[in-house]
Amino acid sequence: MAKLWDARFSKAENSRVNDFNSSISFDSRMFREDIEGSIAHAAMLGRQGIISPDESAKIVEELMNIRADIESGELPIDPEAEDIHMFVEEVLTKRIGDTGKRLHTARSRNDQVALDIRLYLRKEITEIRGLLKGLLAAISQIAKDNTDAVMAGYTHLQRAQPVTFAHYVLAYGQMFLRDDNRLREIHAHTSVSPLGSGALASTTYPIDRHMVADLLGLDGVTENSMDGVSDRDFLIELIFALSLVMMHLSRFSEEVILWCSSEFGFIELDDAFSTGSSIMPQKKNPDIAELVRGKTGRVYGDLTTALTMMKGIPLAYNKDMQEDKEAVFDAIDTAKLCIELFTSMLSTMTVKKAKLRQAASGGFINATDCADYLVKKGLPFRDAYKVSGRLVAYCIEHGTDFESLPLETYREFSPLFDEGVYGAVNLDNCVNTRLVYGGPSVQSVLHQIGLIDTYIDNN
Ligand code: ARG
Repeated sequence: MAKLWDARFSKAENSRVNDFNSSISFDSRMFREDIEGSIAHAAMLGRQGIISPDESAKIVEELMNIRADIESGELPIDPEAEDIHMFVEEVLTKRIGDTGKRLHTARSRNDQVALDIRLYLRKEITEIRGLLKGLLAAISQIAKDNTDAVMAGYTHLQRAQPVTFAHYVLAYGQMFLRDDNRLREIHAHTSVSPLGSGALASTTYPIDRHMVADLLGLDGVTENSMDGVSDRDFLIELIFALSLVMMHLSRFSEEVILWCSSEFGFIELDDAFSTGSSIMPQKKNPDIAELVRGKTGRVYGDLTTALTMMKGIPLAYNKDMQEDKEAVFDAIDTAKLCIELFTSMLSTMTVKKAKLRQAASGGFINATDCADYLVKKGLPFRDAYKVSGRLVAYCIEHGTDFESLPLETYREFSPLFDEGVYGAVNLDNCVNTRLVYGGPSVQSVLHQIGLIDTYIDNN
């Protein structure tokens, strides 16, 4: 195919170089943003008298036709084109002749691609935030259904203190709330127009950069033309934010995998969100959770790709930067898919409250509460801690627990014990007397649920 720069060159491009250079196979997904940016640019060129109003209108009209034709499938994207920017301009020129050649006045592909990727990522960030809201809503619902589901909280994967399933999942709710807030900020960093930076040194034409930004619904323009074309911070920030989303999903996946094992048996996944084994008929595997955990590595890889790609690039644009797209697109596709499937898996699982309670009863997770009970009777915490520890050892030796120990036995360990101890070590009481802000009591959990629900309504 004839190249734009044939005038300067005396030889045709090697065909493998063409393939190597080409980004159309992955940047064609930005065709809407490319056309949207070009429409705004053409409108501005017309308004500023850089091209005639007629030419501007003709370009805008045909760009809209091209967009509709690509959308309908009538205009297939040519895989031989170098990139989406070249493709759209070539089609435009083919359709409206010389007028089409005026579109690229006062613009370079360098500021064009920087604009396109910002517009594209902005749209994706909004979609991802929508998915996160869906996940938060699922978590809120699970919490509402499980405020009374007492279970053991763990440290070092050893049963530690009683919480509820509601409190447990709401911890993940907080992570995804932070993720969503982070994405809101990154959306703002992305919503800035670099158009007018030109190749690197702006332009001599009297363009109106703010008008283009306004037409595109962007919040402002970049301040330095060299930075404008070579900044990819917003893109890296996005992959980083998605890495954190994946890290949170991966931790949650690990819980789900453990919980649906026979050893825990805390939940059961819906058949529609589990898989069987090709050889072992009894198996029901948590493949979705495992894949989410596995795909987290991919997104971290995308982050490393983007960071490493940028680290040695002198100002301003260098072709290395074309590598940004596959990395960020992969991170976006992966994260979206994972959030969506994880949400469905979560909202269809069954929580086995009795199993949760049974596991909570076996691990002396009320030992701290037993000690606290003695503290309230006047014993210093360190002494109370020892008494409670001796009681644990006694219970293990005699195959019993705090709830079933007779009062005489308690009193052998300390005369401070009376009937009240049974209330103190009752698991429901242990949870619901933790009235501290942020704790697992029903009141606190209802407050946490309210925070998530209000956030979903307002964001
Ligand atoms: N496909 C290119 C990219 O993604 C567009 C910018 C090309 N600019 C250039 N000077 N060759 O980065």
